Amino acid sequence: MCGIVCYIGKRDATPILLEGLRRLEYRGYDSAGIAVTGGEQPYLVKTVGKVSELERRVAEVKPAGTCGIAHTRWATHGRPSEANAHPHTGCHGKIYLVHNGIIENYQEIKDDLIQKGHRFHSETDTEVLVHLIEENFRDDLESALKKALSRVQGTFGIALFHTDDPTKIVLARRGSPLILGIGRNEYLAASDVNALIRYTNKVITLNDNELAVLSAGDYSISDFQDRKVERQTETIEWPAQSADKKGFEHFMLKEIFEQPEAVQNALRGRIVDGEGVSRLGGLDSVTERLKSIKKLIFVSCGTSFHACLLGRYTFEKLTDLSVEVDLASEFRYRNLMLDEKTAIIALSQSGETADTLAAVREAKRKGALCLGLVNVVGSTIAKETDAGVYNHAGPEIGVASTKVFLSQCVILNLIALLIGRYQRLSLTEGLLITRALKELPALIDKILKNAPRVEEIAREYARYENFLFLGRLYNYPIALEGALKLKEISYVHAEGYAAGEMKHGPISLIDPDFPTIALAPRDSTYDKMINNIQEIKARDGKVIAVATQGDEGIAHHVDRVIYVPQTIDILQPLLNTVPLQLFAYYVARARSCAIDKPRNLAKSVTVE
Ligand code: AGP
Repeated sequence: MCGIVCYIGKRDATPILLEGLRRLEYRGYDSAGIAVTGGEQPYLVKTVGKVSELERRVAEVKPAGTCGIAHTRWATHGRPSEANAHPHTGCHGKIYLVHNGIIENYQEIKDDLIQKGHRFHSETDTEVLVHLIEENFRDDLESALKKALSRVQGTFGIALFHTDDPTKIVLARRGSPLILGIGRNEYLAASDVNALIRYTNKVITLNDNELAVLSAGDYSISDFQDRKVERQTETIEWPAQSADKKGFEHFMLKEIFEQPEAVQNALRGRIVDGEGVSRLGGLDSVTERLKSIKKLIFVSCGTSFHACLLGRYTFEKLTDLSVEVDLASEFRYRNLMLDEKTAIIALSQSGETADTLAAVREAKRKGALCLGLVNVVGSTIAKETDAGVYNHAGPEIGVASTKVFLSQCVILNLIALLIGRYQRLSLTEGLLITRALKELPALIDKILKNAPRVEEIAREYARYENFLFLGRLYNYPIALEGALKLKEISYVHAEGYAAGEMKHGPISLIDPDFPTIALAPRDSTYDKMINNIQEIKARDGKVIAVATQGDEGIAHHVDRVIYVPQTIDILQPLLNTVPLQLFAYYVARARSCAIDKPRNLAKSVTVE
């Protein structure tokens, strides 16, 4: 989704801004732009397409200046075009502005400004902001901004400068993230910490309804009522190079191979040896309240939602809670009875997903305990939930979520253990699970060593345009996740189904050109899965099975087998996920797709 980068200091702003934009590319965008001042004369360059094209165009201008703002745009109002790309400027060409979010009442403001003589050049909602600020400008940018924002409905992260005063950048936030990067005699700001970490690891997150002013030697934060805000800087632990590919062809592949480490990081210091229970510091403050909870609702979107679906089975097995799972975009509009005996757990890699955030706010309003399971430290969901757990999986750059999914599944086991051990879960069962959790990184490593076999099968099947993914019980959410991975990066149509549902519809699709990937581990559902596989074979369908190491017999029923080591039933789906991620990756690679930045997708979906 849209990205913002700003710089003010003593250095040439342009290369710093372009490097920041490159680090935001993973979020998905369709056009980009940059405006710089503080040199001989201000400049503005905008392009449709990649940041590399913007760089090429900027090089022609040979710009200089120590104060600048830059943006990657993901179209919402108006198609991708140079006119619609940010930064936008008003009629006098003095105020330049970038914006993330949506201005809901833009049409009414635009009509009014047109009456007052303003001329618009884009189809965007953003352009009304810069004209409105221009309309309110007397001699002070902050006052004009605040006055303008008092008329605006919607969400925004905004950065702007005025060419008459190139010594400051003004920022404001409501509902769309902005992070300040604190350097030595220089300041940066961005909508995503990845754009900053090369230059500083000292950051401050702006809260909603706050405004910041950055200059080369100082910064200040206040609220919209002019009250000064004092906030400590936080130190980001991610090293700058963790956002590099480390020799892998794509971030997605690197992140798939980082999974043993991501799982290790999710577990580190969180298992109490000998007691079959977990220790989760982030939930300490709500332990007593957690003990009184009767109902748990998981909310999230996309891949995080699939982790929640698996979490439901885990919590039902290990705890006495009644468990529901809902898509965040549905949850917030339902007419639900939530009270102090209900907790929600919001899962989000980015911690910024608009639908999930809206669900958290709705649940809070109704008095439920709100917990978060989030990867990005200091993100909005992390801040707005009552308590929570961080993944500590490191930055996930590939748009397709991989390592954070496994990390989420591991941590849901830890939370279930924590609650379950207050309830029905015995010490013996707890010990069995903690032992199996600790073995996961080594088992995932073994699966990754088999990547060449998955690649061979993926190349063989890359020409098919449709796939069915089947799983039962714990592996049903993994069938959904396998299908999502394949469709999002290879643009191949894929459907995930509970295997028992096959005969209620999808079986009619089966023919020699519609292969099935069947998750068939040696668990309580094995015989039923074999029946499903035979039903497919009887209709000339091709089947690739993901099966338990040592199950030689299954090879007689299917066309190809990918073997996976065995663990306990509730953790088996985590291992089965890995070959499906690899399969999706290698199919997309064979089809020459833009794996890390699939078309139309954004890493962090900050609009509803
Ligand atoms: C994952 O592969 C997807 N790109 C997407 O479904 C993602 O999981 C979803 O947008 C939720 O994101 P979040 O975890 O950051 O909230």
